[in-house]
Amino acid sequence: MKKRKGIILAGGTGSRLFPITRVVSKQLLPVYDKPMIYYPLSVLMLAGIREILIITTPHDEKDFKTLLGDGTQWGIEITYKVQAKPEGLAQAFILAEEFLDGHPSCLILGDNLFYGKQVMDALEEAMSHNEGGYVFGYHTTEPEQYGVVEFDKNGKVLSIEEKPENPKSRYAVPGLYFFDERAPAFAKGLTPSKRGELEIADLITCYLKEESLKVALFGRGTAWLDTGTPDGMAHATQFVQVIQQRQGLKIACPEEIAFEAEWISRADLEQSADNYAKTEYGKYLLAILAEADAVV
Ligand code: DAU
Repeated sequence: MKKRKGIILAGGTGSRLFPITRVVSKQLLPVYDKPMIYYPLSVLMLAGIREILIITTPHDEKDFKTLLGDGTQWGIEITYKVQAKPEGLAQAFILAEEFLDGHPSCLILGDNLFYGKQVMDALEEAMSHNEGGYVFGYHTTEPEQYGVVEFDKNGKVLSIEEKPENPKSRYAVPGLYFFDERAPAFAKGLTPSKRGELEIADLITCYLKEESLKVALFGRGTAWLDTGTPDGMAHATQFVQVIQQRQGLKIACPEEIAFEAEWISRADLEQSADNYAKTEYGKYLLAILAEADAVV
């Protein structure tokens, strides 16, 4: 069985956050103490995915490379691809076709933040789902802002609609999608929507039509935060701050995830801590090392 590869879609114009994103890519903005992209990157790493393609705008690619490099520091392999224009989420699979090379994939949006034990369980379940598509439903107060799942009275999925005026349920589809190796072929068969985009909802519908789609619902204990607006950014920052300060544990620390997974050595972690010497982040990395020593 071929290993699943990861894609982070981190392009777009970020226009809903103008003027903040006039110069800086949205996915590089801080969410409390880390760049936004650390959060989706950490989700892929927690799922056990080590080969990751980052799709950016032509203008921002160099900044992402400066920040994340080739991933060696975290024991992963990061490569990059440019999306010339934001022509839709499903285009990610066309751009990623060569990278995927017939492997199944997990696409995560560079501005989506997930947190909670249930997320870990969901990742494990989705990773083991080798055929078809696997996406999620999340109960929300504003379904019309998202892709929305329609169910019949027995819970069978009937449709996925992108930003419907009259949503058929309160379940939004978060930006985390698991597909088998056919996603690039399905994406190539799509036609652009009225707004000129290759819609992810249409790609999911390809799997629904052939009855190979699973929609798993996230329960109450799951945080899915959207950073699409200044309020969304502020809420995400507050959320991360509150949880981290209460627990003394970081959300989305790639060094920690890599060390726990034994993808990097003690010396690698020490090196990272050194790079961030005297910062709060560096102290946290040193604390991980100290804790590992105490356990031994
Ligand atoms: O957040 C989940 C939602 O994301 C889903 O429920 C929707 O079905 C899905 O369409 C998407 O909705 P958004 O309104 O959030 O899409 P947006 O156009 O804002 O794009 C999401 C992210 O992907 C954003 O960070 C920019 C990036 N992007 C977007 C497009 C259209 C790209 O990198 N390239 C693109 O072509």
